Amino acid sequence: MKIALILGTRPEIIKMSPIIRLFEEKNIDYLIIHSNQHYSKNMDDVFFKELNLPTPDYSLGIGSADHGNQTGNMLIKIEEILLKEKPDVVLSQGDTNTVLAGILAASKQNIKTGHVEAGLRSYDRRMPEEKNRIICDTLSDYLFVPTRVQKEILLGEGIPENRIFVTGNTIVDAVLQHKELAMDKSKILSSLDLQEKQFVLLTAHRALNVDTKESLEKLVNLIGQINEITGFKVVYPMHPRTKAKLDQYNLNISNAICIEPLGYLDFLALEINAGLIVTDSGGIQEEACILGIPCITIRENTERPETISVGANKLVGLSIDSFKKAFKFHQNNTKEWENPFGSGHTSEKILEVIKSQQ
Ligand code: UD1
Ligand code: UDP
Repeated sequence: MKIALILGTRPEIIKMSPIIRLFEEKNIDYLIIHSNQHYSKNMDDVFFKELNLPTPDYSLGIGSADHGNQTGNMLIKIEEILLKEKPDVVLSQGDTNTVLAGILAASKQNIKTGHVEAGLRSYDRRMPEEKNRIICDTLSDYLFVPTRVQKEILLGEGIPENRIFVTGNTIVDAVLQHKELAMDKSKILSSLDLQEKQFVLLTAHRALNVDTKESLEKLVNLIGQINEITGFKVVYPMHPRTKAKLDQYNLNISNAICIEPLGYLDFLALEINAGLIVTDSGGIQEEACILGIPCITIRENTERPETISVGANKLVGLSIDSFKKAFKFHQNNTKEWENPFGSGHTSEKILEVIKSQQ
């Protein structure tokens, strides 16, 4: 059995890393196809190095472009490789354009496809990721869903039950595999002069928040107030998309320490020690919930409702009033919550399912 792993962006490299490690350990015949949707050193290379991952067998050099152009070029190149390599299974994780291209190319060649982190829905079709999720879930043969919530969603969409496997999310495997290392190795707290639990870790890159001048102005305004509302320093490792948009609209962030995107160990160390995480990222909502750190999500909706129901996360959009209420909620919330995303053995479960289906 030969498996092709297709990835291309920061969160896919991180969330696929436990699967890659397991494939190495078990001597699985596999190859990695990297679209290079992310290509800057601190969005790509740093993760292969830090997470000790093998160099991809194929690097497609796609880079940034409009959706059709980016996805189309990926499709053309991935198709060629799949025709040559003839894998039995293609595995892809998440909801980016790389995942869409990978699963579509494989499915057209009738190669079995596995979608890791299947069944998530924000029910917001303005998000490019939501369109990708729907197409990938409709086409995939094996749908590896994090919790029963996504199983119910997929059943409701008419997907046959025998395609759905509740496995947890590989992000738990990744967090557990790197947590100790991050705490031992990272010097990020001292280098940024931060005290444990006395700072807010912020990230924002979602197209709906940063792409128009109107929403980006609201985001900049909200960020400018977080220090006063919380009394904490605010640290913002800035996604290159947001940096490009701030430059385009000539806007500046105030009252926050803006830094370049970080490697995984430094970022995990910041998450573990943060008093509060503020984000519009999917993976970071999950990580905050897994690590027991209160989270405020600067979106109107989330495809990670488990984080809300356990009390780990609050949705506030870009509203300052809602942010204040959410911060109060977390200040008064002394309850600990259970991590809903699995016990850290998701990669093993996924491999077992794939083997049993061949
Ligand atoms: C993509 C995913 C998003 C995911 C995010 C993870 C899609 C549609 N979006 O968004 O779901 O949450 O990755 O981070 O697939 N850029 C660089 N260097 C890079 C990569 C990007 O400078 O290595 C800049 C470029 O200006 C580029 C912009 O970021 O135009 C956006 O990159 P793109 O890959 O289109 O989307 P992301 O916002 O990264
Ligand atoms: N991350 C990182 N360095 C950073 C910011 C994020 O290593 O500076 C990690 C984070 O721990 C999480 C993943 O990147 O595992 C989330 O990626 P991102 O927010 O880009 O994408 P999303 O999850 O929203 O698709």
